[in-house]
Amino acid sequence: MLVTGATGRIGRAVVDQLIDAGVPVRALVRRSEAAVTLPPDVEIVNGDLTVPESLGAALQAVSTVFLVWTAPPQTAAAVVDLLAAHAQRVVYLSAPHRTPHPFFRQPNPMAALHAEIERLIAATGLDSTIVRPGMFASNALFWWSAAIRGDGVVRWPYGAAETAPVDDRDVAAVIARTLREGGHAGGDYVLTGPESLTQAEQIRIVGDALGSPLTFEETPPDEFRRETPEASRPAADMLLAAWNAATGRPAYVTSTVSDLLGRPARTFRQWVTDHATSFTGKPAPMN
Ligand SMILES: NC(=O)c1ccc[n+]([C@@H]2O[C@H](COP(=O)([O-])OP(=O)(O)OC[C@H]3O[C@@H](n4cnc5c(N)ncnc54)[C@H](OP(=O)(O)O)[C@@H]3O)[C@@H](O)[C@H]2O)c1
Repeated sequence: MLVTGATGRIGRAVVDQLIDAGVPVRALVRRSEAAVTLPPDVEIVNGDLTVPESLGAALQAVSTVFLVWTAPPQTAAAVVDLLAAHAQRVVYLSAPHRTPHPFFRQPNPMAALHAEIERLIAATGLDSTIVRPGMFASNALFWWSAAIRGDGVVRWPYGAAETAPVDDRDVAAVIARTLREGGHAGGDYVLTGPESLTQAEQIRIVGDALGSPLTFEETPPDEFRRETPEASRPAADMLLAAWNAATGRPAYVTSTVSDLLGRPARTFRQWVTDHATSFTGKPAPMN
């Protein structure tokens, strides 16, 4: 089994879950030094998705591939062809761009790339499973930890926009299960957290769970965009459009995590509590 994106948020958690289940894992890494962060039983193979010729060793004798694509799009077709030439199954980490909820229906380059990779995979005839998580709960760490370590004031746009953050570990658990089990060919799974929460509520939950209350201050979208570093503007534009479209209606919530795992999806509060040290450097207070 080949795991790409193995040093990233979801791929790393998928590696852990496969290893825990006793499944032999090969991880594709593009920097050898990144391999030290992976468990010792993982077979590490160097390769780069933007250099299809570099993937020969990674694909040798592989039956199933977990594909994460955050690279530029140019080599996607060549890589999917290579997967089809070597493997029988692919599980692809996509997004809910087909889901009929305005939050997911704003045109953006990432959604277009996911759609294109799904089209390429379908054209090869590979057995495929498409996993489509909504907002990762872990985004909170990237977005709000600076305020938590700083003055406790989160300046953020669209406080009333509702999302249903999904725990990264639940996403990884579904992926690990689809990789390990038969019967998921043709599966198309939209994964969300268990509840619709406004962004202002999420910020309150973060402060509450960490025992250090946060103040939410609504920032006008234009100001938020201006203050976003240039390199992150495309992502900011994508989010602003989605939050704007989602304001005033509940987030789209599915039961797919619990249906597939046979237990409830983890809550956003649970994710924050379990990652308290990442936010603050200190464990969460006892409740
Ligand atoms: N964030 C969300 O809320 C959200 C929601 C739904 C779907 N998604 C989708 O989830 C995906 C991102 O997953 P993630 O957050 O787990 O990713 P991530 O943490 O950003 O990690 C990306 C992984 O891909 C690897 N990678 C990047 N370029 C590569 C290349 N050229 N060759 C080989 N490996 C390469 C990285 O390796 P290095 O360590 O070498 O950089 C890293 O392991 C995206 O497709 C996104 O659209 C995200």
